[in-house]
Amino acid sequence: MRTLQLGVSDLIVPRIALGCMRLSQDRAEALRTIRTALDAGITFFDHADIYQRGRAEETFAAIWEEAPHLRQSIYLESKCGIRVAGDTDPRAPFRYDFSYEHIISAVEGSLRRLKTDYLDVLLLHRPDALMEPEEVARAFDELHATGKVRWFGVSNHTPGQIQLLQRWVNQPLIANQLQLSLEHTNLIDEGIWMNRSDLPEPSRGEGTLDFCRLHNITIQAWSPLAGGRLGGRRPEHADPRLERTSAVVAEMAAEKGISPEAILVAWILRHPARILPIIGTMNPERIANACRADEIELTREEWYRLYEAGRGVRVP
Ligand SMILES: NC(=O)c1ccc[n+]([C@@H]2O[C@H](COP(=O)([O-])OP(=O)(O)OC[C@H]3O[C@@H](n4cnc5c(N)ncnc54)[C@H](OP(=O)(O)O)[C@@H]3O)[C@@H](O)[C@H]2O)c1
Repeated sequence: MRTLQLGVSDLIVPRIALGCMRLSQDRAEALRTIRTALDAGITFFDHADIYQRGRAEETFAAIWEEAPHLRQSIYLESKCGIRVAGDTDPRAPFRYDFSYEHIISAVEGSLRRLKTDYLDVLLLHRPDALMEPEEVARAFDELHATGKVRWFGVSNHTPGQIQLLQRWVNQPLIANQLQLSLEHTNLIDEGIWMNRSDLPEPSRGEGTLDFCRLHNITIQAWSPLAGGRLGGRRPEHADPRLERTSAVVAEMAAEKGISPEAILVAWILRHPARILPIIGTMNPERIANACRADEIELTREEWYRLYEAGRGVRVP
């Protein structure tokens, strides 16, 4: 699989990653998923401390039992900063926490569950309204100096939030993980509907796409397969736009002899920002099929045809 460099880091990773949010708790099934990904060329795995309340990281670690040597050739990313309701006392709400203490203890928890000495990348999961950048900087310095985390980034952050953090944090922020798929095109819409009042739905992209390109921050696309809603899984409620988009995706997939998942991933890969899709399917066949996106290159016409279908209107 072709590779890309994560931001300004020395990490050269395959350009499709596997997200482990839905990793099966059945050990054999989980191992089958991970092995399929490795066979397809995926060596970059995205985690978070909260995925299945830590059990996704724990199950993933089973891979070392059969292949301990793999740690050197695998890139592990995890996230911290989201705290679930009731974790400290029954009245504690679902919340965000970028305090020094929480960042340090969350990373230590991830390392323990993943049975590893270091994370290749740590992301701050969702912006914390009470964030003190000095505290984040202190936590990152310590994690970096002790070798527990090699590189740092964010997820779901605006340009302003990134600038605020980067003003204090000594390490370069190399990634911003954001929702992007043919179903959820906000990041792209705002550039296309710039200064117009007829955007079909409001975009809250906040200039993030251009900002990340300008500052060499790799965008990682979460939910790139739109949760299956554009590839065969029926949405809960009838949605004509999804149906039309699925039809265009299916037609293009048939023309090219690949799967709808591969078209969805190829649509993201075609963007010149060198966006890294984090696919979340745990189905071995779908993983292998989605990775075939690496073999094709959509034309400009194909990319815009898919975009038009996804938006449900032609560009202005
Ligand atoms: N930073 C954040 O805030 C954030 C938020 C959400 C997710 N993420 C990351 O992004 C990763 C991917 O997210 P995601 O899982 O929502 O993304 P996704 O890749 O868009 O969706 C995967 C889901 O769609 C299903 N699916 C895909 N194609 C299908 C098809 N043709 N038919 C039926 N079902 C199909 C999969 O089921 P099967 O397994 O059965 O194929 C799976 O449940 C996560 O694992 C996580 O690492 C990050």
